[in-house]
Amino acid sequence: MNLVSDGAGRLLYDGVALAEIAERFDTPCYVYSAEHLRTTFAAFRDAFAGHDTLICYALKANSNLSILRLLAELGAGVDIVSGGELQRALAAGVPAERIVFSGVAKSEAEMRLALEVGIHCFNIESEPELIRLNRVAAAMGRTAAISLRINPDVDAHTHPYISTGLKDNKFGIAHGDALAVYRRAAAMANIQVVGIDCHIGSQLTDTAPFLDALDRLLALVDQLAAEGIVLRHLDLGGGLGIRYADETPPAVADYAQAVLARLAGRSLQLVLEPGRALVGNAGLLLTRVEYIKQGETRRFAIVDAGMNDLMRPALYQAWHEIVPVRHRDTPPQTVDVVGPVCESSDFLGRERELAIEEGDLLAVLSSGAYGMTMSSNYNTRPRAAEVLIDGGQVRVIRRRETVAQLIADEQELLG
Ligand code: LLP
Repeated sequence: MNLVSDGAGRLLYDGVALAEIAERFDTPCYVYSAEHLRTTFAAFRDAFAGHDTLICYALKANSNLSILRLLAELGAGVDIVSGGELQRALAAGVPAERIVFSGVAKSEAEMRLALEVGIHCFNIESEPELIRLNRVAAAMGRTAAISLRINPDVDAHTHPYISTGLKDNKFGIAHGDALAVYRRAAAMANIQVVGIDCHIGSQLTDTAPFLDALDRLLALVDQLAAEGIVLRHLDLGGGLGIRYADETPPAVADYAQAVLARLAGRSLQLVLEPGRALVGNAGLLLTRVEYIKQGETRRFAIVDAGMNDLMRPALYQAWHEIVPVRHRDTPPQTVDVVGPVCESSDFLGRERELAIEEGDLLAVLSSGAYGMTMSSNYNTRPRAAEVLIDGGQVRVIRRRETVAQLIADEQELLG
């Protein structure tokens, strides 16, 4: 992240003083860098340039319309997992033919909407889903392009909550059932089999599990071809990790090189669904210290952002670097950075060495992915504003929610 301290000890993000942003837009506030988004997307695009590749950004990571539009203008497609995400993508101007649809619970209404607009592919996660899609497509007089999401049963070596490619997970079709389900799909009148798909987990810091999964998928591609079921594309999912603390995820170029080596000589289009790798380090959460409180055993910095704004620490014990926006010469003290929500799990960081006082601003780094999209209104807390820095200018890309908005749907119904 492009953070530097100016001569006066003020923290600048992409050249803009974070204190100024807090002044203008208040806190808590998500701050994103357009420059970072462009650079990371270009890194993906360039790394895979030698092969026919469609990069379908997994918009669950950050679904702000302005971010979607920026990525779409650079050529990105998207991976969606709901009708809501489909409507976001369309509203942002993502072309339907660059949309792939994952998710285990696609409803008939979601299928109809996706068929109407003509998405690139449905990633089918079970046989009942396949049967339903065939029926829905037939009723509309359409044909649905599909790939089967295969559960390759590889261990992604990541947090159990974000590991998705093991036998016990609810995702995908068991590797051992794949051929049989493909044969059935190929015989369905309103289904067109076009691809194969997997997604083994998130925040992977090693390429080996990706390559294991890829090998297993390629073996299936060959077995299917021998039966006359020829696939056009292979979707390797998302999952490439980023650095939060001291992780050393593979560089995109190395990941690409390893993947492309396996695909050499094949005419399979490659589809990728990166989420975190594109946006995770493109954003931070700006928050203000409301109180410093000395407890009996611990010292707390109570800030105005909580688990409802950034849930990752509470949910996964995820570690995000927290830095003061203004440098102080006083010696740092060990504090737990906690939010206003009435839950003991409401923390952003524990045992951090920080020189801060009441009223100071803190930046919670690497919050661009799964920050705002996982936020909630718990404790009737309006969701934070989101702003985008682009070329030295800062603009609001989502207004701060108001309590009036939060209660409107109930107020109307008061007896
Ligand atoms: N494709 C599919 C089918 C997925 O389920 C996901 C993420 C992705 C792509 C994108 O994965 P990524 O490139 O971002 O790793 N809330 C968790 C992460 C959950 C990921 C869910 N699926 C977190 O905050 O760490």
